[in-house]
Amino acid sequence: MKVKILIANWKMNKNLKDGLVLANAINKKITNTKSKKFIILPSIHSVNYIKQNIKKSILIGAQDCSPFLKGAYTGDVSAKMIKSIGCKFTLIGHSERRIYNNETNKLLLEKVCRANEAGLKIIFCVGETIEDFKKNNSLKVLKKQLTGIFGTNYNFNNLIIAYEPVWAIGTNKTPQIADIKKTHDFIKLFFKKNYKFSDIPVLYGGSVNSQNSKEIFSLECVNGGLVGGASLIAREFIKIYDTL
Ligand code: PGA
Repeated sequence: MKVKILIANWKMNKNLKDGLVLANAINKKITNTKSKKFIILPSIHSVNYIKQNIKKSILIGAQDCSPFLKGAYTGDVSAKMIKSIGCKFTLIGHSERRIYNNETNKLLLEKVCRANEAGLKIIFCVGETIEDFKKNNSLKVLKKQLTGIFGTNYNFNNLIIAYEPVWAIGTNKTPQIADIKKTHDFIKLFFKKNYKFSDIPVLYGGSVNSQNSKEIFSLECVNGGLVGGASLIAREFIKIYDTL
C-alpha cells in the first residue's frame, strides 16, 4: 500500500506561541502511521521552538532553502542549516516564490541540488496559471517545470511532487476531478518515462478543505494533499487528515 501524505503549509503565519499551540492541537488528535503521514511546514523562525517544545514528536520541514551552500548570502538559510534544526523536508518551487521572488527553473535546480546534498527530502511544487489553464496548456507547463530539474541518478525515493494550479491557491476554486486525474497521471508518467521511476508520490494542493478533500483523495493517482489556509485551523486540518 502506498503511503498517503498530508502537508500543512503555514506560509508566513503564526508566531512562536500560536504555532506551538496549533502543532500540539493537531499532534494530539492525529498520528503518523505506516500508511498515513502528516508533515508540518512552519515559518523557519519557529521550527526549532516547535521541535523543542512539542509534546509528541512530529515530522517537520521548511518552506524553502537557499540555492547556495554557505557564505555571503544575506537573508538565506542553507539546506544544511535547515537539516540541523530537525527538518526532514523542504518545499521547493512553490508558486508564491516563483511569482514574488522570480524563482526560475535554473535557480530551483540549484535548490534541489543543495537540499539533496544536505539529505533533505524535497517537496517540489508545480502548477499552471489560469491563462495557461484556459489555453489548455497545463500539461505543457508541467513538463517545462519538471524538465532538467532532476538528474538521472537522483534518489527519487526522497521526492514528493505537489501539483498546485496557481489559480486554485487561496481562491476556494479547485479543478474538476477529471482535470486533477489528468495532471497527476501526466506527472507520474513523466517520471516513469524519463527516469524509469514509477512510484513518485503526487499530492494535490490548492483550496483543499474538509468539504472537498474526500473526493480529491478518492482518486488513486492522488497520494495526499498540500494544504495552506485550512492547515491554520487545527480542527479543519484534522478533518482533512481523516478523509485521507
Ligand atoms: P491553499 O494553499 O490551501 O490556501 O489554497 C495551498 C498552498 O499554497 O500550498
